[in-house]
Amino acid sequence: MSQRVLTGITTTGTPHLGNYVGAIRPAIAASREPGVESFFFLADYHALIKCDDPDRIERSRLEIAATWLAAGLDTSRVTFYRQSDIPEITELNWLLTCVTAKGQMNRAHAYKATVDAAVAAGEEPDANVTMGLYCYPILMAADILLFNAHRVPVGRDQVQHIEMARDVAQRFNHLFGKGRELFVLPQAEIEESVATLPGLDGRKMSKSYDNTVPLFEGGAKALKDAVARIVTDSKLPGEAKDPEGAHLVTIHDAFADAATRAAFHADLRGGLGWGDAKQRVVQLIEAHVGPMRERYAELVAHPERIEDILQEGARKARTTATPLLAELRQAVGLRRMVAVSQPKAAKAAGAEKSAVPVFKQYREADNLFYFKLTAADGSLLLQSQGFAEGREAGGWVKRFKTEGAAVLADAPVTLGEGADRTAVEAALAALVAAQE
Ligand code: TRP
Repeated sequence: MSQRVLTGITTTGTPHLGNYVGAIRPAIAASREPGVESFFFLADYHALIKCDDPDRIERSRLEIAATWLAAGLDTSRVTFYRQSDIPEITELNWLLTCVTAKGQMNRAHAYKATVDAAVAAGEEPDANVTMGLYCYPILMAADILLFNAHRVPVGRDQVQHIEMARDVAQRFNHLFGKGRELFVLPQAEIEESVATLPGLDGRKMSKSYDNTVPLFEGGAKALKDAVARIVTDSKLPGEAKDPEGAHLVTIHDAFADAATRAAFHADLRGGLGWGDAKQRVVQLIEAHVGPMRERYAELVAHPERIEDILQEGARKARTTATPLLAELRQAVGLRRMVAVSQPKAAKAAGAEKSAVPVFKQYREADNLFYFKLTAADGSLLLQSQGFAEGREAGGWVKRFKTEGAAVLADAPVTLGEGADRTAVEAALAALVAAQE
């Protein structure tokens, strides 16, 4: 069977050269490998978590879709769609929300970082936390699990999210799969071979460091201006330069074939000036990026073409998503009320079950926790006192189920009205037997 590879692209900001080299280019290359089925999507629901400016959301979706298409994404091979065009994602999001432990979300790095920042600023811990941010990993799990992806290429900062998706998938399979794997357990994939591109100052190229080289924005001139600002050492033309560790060289090499790299390194050792070296770098990148920039401009000028491509992608994605979601609804019990014979059969099975007495735990308006034992016919056999902690009530129930009538001696319970002690003892014996 082919391997499903899936990744989401958060639609905020404008892509820079680092995004291209670190994410876009390798993803497109991987999608051309035989035996893989790729799903790439614009994570625009995730973008809403970080941005409440509708115009920016709109613009960013357009620019990022155009970037991926201009960079050579082949939509006849890859399913390319917008998250918000797939209603099954939000449906699955809810099914997963219902089986996700809150404690696990408390441990999510992105949430914790926001809390830490607020605390450091002297604010309430949750001052800047929306439920969207808090539940971010669940939505991401829905993105992945709906398509039963095997591999999810992501940056390091996203690995915890993939692990959470695995956990949720496992829990869901266990609860509802009846021995079947409803979900594939996804694996994070970090591209070790892809170098992180350094920015102008040598730190990782990133918007937050303000050290980026634009990919398309500002045209060839902006590219040239940015490369001119790449920091080098102060060796003069004619002096031998060490290509190892020079950021300019790392950026050059990300676009060069082996022969071009070797020639560039040799020329630097031989005294090529940094100014001339930068010119070569601009030419090299421009040769690569220039034609893409033209396609990009053409696409951005025709948003309706992008819209058509994405609509077609959504249609394709939903041919996978719709049947799986139908199966999941079935698995959790959201079923059509059609088959008359089935409810009857279920009722019979239920009746058989309730032939045994049952313990019920509940909470009253006084905020205390109680339990009671009722007979098969619904009459009250035992009634507990109230407990401050649900755990205490649970503890007694557990003892009754394992030790039976012996527990009556010290348990804080009274007999139900009209219940006789031998009937209670018999009921408890039946329960113990049912446990075994
Ligand atoms: N959270 C990811 C990021 O910021 C984007 C994303 C959303 C994603 N859903 C996903 C990535 C599903 C992989 C799979 O990079």
